[in-house]
Amino acid sequence: MILDKNWRILTVGDGDLSFSYSLAKHFKPATLIASVYDSEAELKLKYQDNAFDKLSDLGVRIVTQFDVTNLSCWQKIPLHAFDAVIFQFPLLPAFGSHQCFQQQTLSVNTLNRRLLRKFLINATSYALDPHGEQLGIITSKDVKPYTEWNIEESLVIGTAHHYLGQSTFDISQFPEYQIRNVDRDKHVKDTSGISYYWSINKQHAIIPQLILPRYLNADHCTMCRAGPFISDNDKKAHNKAKKHKNMQKHEYEWLDYLQRTNTK
Ligand SMILES: C[S@@+](CC[C@H](N)C(=O)[O-])C[C@H]1O[C@@H](n2cnc3c(N)ncnc32)[C@H](O)[C@@H]1O
Repeated sequence: MILDKNWRILTVGDGDLSFSYSLAKHFKPATLIASVYDSEAELKLKYQDNAFDKLSDLGVRIVTQFDVTNLSCWQKIPLHAFDAVIFQFPLLPAFGSHQCFQQQTLSVNTLNRRLLRKFLINATSYALDPHGEQLGIITSKDVKPYTEWNIEESLVIGTAHHYLGQSTFDISQFPEYQIRNVDRDKHVKDTSGISYYWSINKQHAIIPQLILPRYLNADHCTMCRAGPFISDNDKKAHNKAKKHKNMQKHEYEWLDYLQRTNTK
């Protein structure tokens, strides 16, 4: 993960706060505000081994009940005061009840994409300093279901954001960090991940440090991360495969959602 000590950083959805704690302890960014979706009581109940008090003892401000999709939550933090906003391993919480699940008309795939899209849009509108670095960063896993979100191509369609590239997420940079399960006091064993970067600034100075993987090239199927295709037949065979059809279904549902809501 590429970060700069001079950056003013906001973390969101930071589960047990161990990422923000490690960031504050070892990296010491110019400013750090950490935020979590849960209340303090919920966080401490869910994750018994959490970094709430340790982070607070370092003098870092913690904002609780911060829902990245809720505009009023962004009023809880200083306006346009950050260089980077980071969301580590985002994932929707489970539905509260079977009834909630049944009432939901959008697929879980679309709901997760919507969460990430709203995060990037709201971070830019409210948290990022227009005269600063203007970076939205999402770290995610390189396995299903996360790879089914087509993160690099689909999230910011129709907005002024640009996808800049990715960097490997190396957890050894953050010794105290335990990647958490969304609803349980468990931490994720396989810690490999990729940090993806977006900005309003298309020519951002960070670009040379980031990677643009080969699956983004025209001779690949980007959403399936498949290829390179050596011939038209090779590509046609891929397009008929179950994996591609499944990805296409997610893609159509997402595009349909964007069209129906005309979300910006
Ligand atoms: C898989 S957990 C990862 C937790 C933590 N970021 C980590 O890396 O250990 C997904 C996190 O996303 C958060 N989240 C889900 N929806 C959110 C929302 N609308 N606003 C803020 N955080 C959200 C959850 O509260 C949860 O902490």
